[in-house]
Amino acid sequence: MKKFENKVAVVTGGNSGIGYAAAEKLVSLGATVIITGRRKEAIEKAAAEIGAIPFVADQANLKDTEALFTSVQQQYGKVDILFINAGITGHSTLIEEATEDNFDNVMNINFKGAYFTLSRFVPLLGEGASVVILSSIVASTYQPNSSIYQASKAALNSIAKTAAAELAPKKVRVNIVSPGPTRTAVLSKAGIDAATADGIFDQLSATRIPLRKVGTPEDVASLVAYLSDDAATYITGSEFVIDGGFTL
Ligand SMILES: NC(=O)c1ccc[n+]([C@@H]2O[C@H](COP(=O)([O-])OP(=O)(O)OC[C@H]3O[C@@H](n4cnc5c(N)ncnc54)[C@H](OP(=O)(O)O)[C@@H]3O)[C@@H](O)[C@H]2O)c1
Repeated sequence: MKKFENKVAVVTGGNSGIGYAAAEKLVSLGATVIITGRRKEAIEKAAAEIGAIPFVADQANLKDTEALFTSVQQQYGKVDILFINAGITGHSTLIEEATEDNFDNVMNINFKGAYFTLSRFVPLLGEGASVVILSSIVASTYQPNSSIYQASKAALNSIAKTAAAELAPKKVRVNIVSPGPTRTAVLSKAGIDAATADGIFDQLSATRIPLRKVGTPEDVASLVAYLSDDAATYITGSEFVIDGGFTL
């Protein structure tokens, strides 16, 4: 019997990158996995590739989150693994040049979306359930030009720890995974062309990351699977940095 047989997992933002790799890993371990994304075609393609169940939902939109909740409740009645992963970097700007659009977009997806996904799914989380919130090492860095993204992830760390305290009596664990540079489409979706994004990752790995590699989505997926497993039954409210030593 596979480790996650009979477990139901929900992965937000599962059509690419870390969410896709995590969903694929959880499926391979036997879980029934529902993945979400905004783009119908992309989410259906990804689900078909990995054997997951697609659900079109914009996590920034509370109505979509509630529709997702209702669908999962009616079909499965529980969630054992909740991986709150959907996120964007938004545009880089100095604080004095920030736009309201960029602020709202980043905060609505990364923070409000994650907050209400967690909030609404609590009733489906029973004893032994695991929540993993995908943050970033930037939650604890203060680089110029990245104030909104950094703040959105810092806010996530805060709610994850409060949730760990609130849900501990239910024996539900909540942990934070904070990757460093990880080779995904995240930069190209922020408007950086693929060649430049590759160059940034290559340079980081050659000069800034002590393990001399950029993380892969699969590296992060393995950590998410570990934290979702009964092996991690005594771990809650913790942040796991996975960055090849970048922040040392
Ligand atoms: N890559 C890194 O270096 C790195 C480092 C630290 C943290 N992170 C975090 O890791 C998470 C995953 O990013 P990634 O690197 O794997 O990038 P990615 O490949 O762009 O994946 C992001 C996923 O989130 C989805 N998504 C975005 N906005 C959404 C929304 N409003 N509703 C539903 N789904 C939405 C995307 O779907 P669409 O394709 O439809 O947009 C995609 O499936 C993010 O929270 C990011 O901040 C990434």
